[in-house]
Amino acid sequence: MDFLTLAKTRCSVREYSSKQVENDKVNIILECGRVCPTAVNYQPQVVLKITDTASLYKLKASAKTFGAPLVLVVCCDTKIAWTRKLDNKSMADIDGTIAADHMVMAAESLGLSTCWIELFRPEILRKDFNIPENLQPIAIIAIGYAAYDKKSPDRHDIERNPLSSMVVENTF
Ligand SMILES: Cc1cc2nc3c(=O)[nH]c(=O)nc-3n(C[C@H](O)[C@H](O)[C@H](O)COP(=O)(O)O)c2cc1C
Repeated sequence: MDFLTLAKTRCSVREYSSKQVENDKVNIILECGRVCPTAVNYQPQVVLKITDTASLYKLKASAKTFGAPLVLVVCCDTKIAWTRKLDNKSMADIDGTIAADHMVMAAESLGLSTCWIELFRPEILRKDFNIPENLQPIAIIAIGYAAYDKKSPDRHDIERNPLSSMVVENTF
């Protein structure tokens, strides 16, 4: 499948079957998070992989993950991430987001579904999973097999703004 088709096929799934994600698929997804680009190649991303029943249950206190059998909490080490000194901008969010998106698309390419989750309680998540202070949780990614038919790839014709409203030629 070419990348555009894959990108159009991906949609957020909010109900998962109980089928576990095969280990070889989990490893491919994580490998995609490992090889993604990061600022200055500092590689600040750290991924908390949650699969066991007790931990998935514990996660309910900080996030709704729609019954996904695999949940990745993508964190970024703020002490490692590059900071642009010119304006003191940390790349932590950007690096973590790139890693998360690589893993989302990898999962999609393997016939899995995902949901990107930002509605979570960072402090409860940090406490319940002993997330060290230097790690900032950037995104929670629910992964599994969809429990319903996914939306049509054609939906972008109406669910997304047209290209003309996104692209500005040469200058504003
Ligand atoms: C940064 C970000 C945060 C999101 N947070 C949540 C969330 O907390 N809960 C949720 O159900 N979906 C969340 N989503 C999914 C979006 O609602 C979804 O991507 C958007 O509505 C487009 O739909 P689609 O993913 O099916 O194409 C998030 C997506 C992104 C990119």
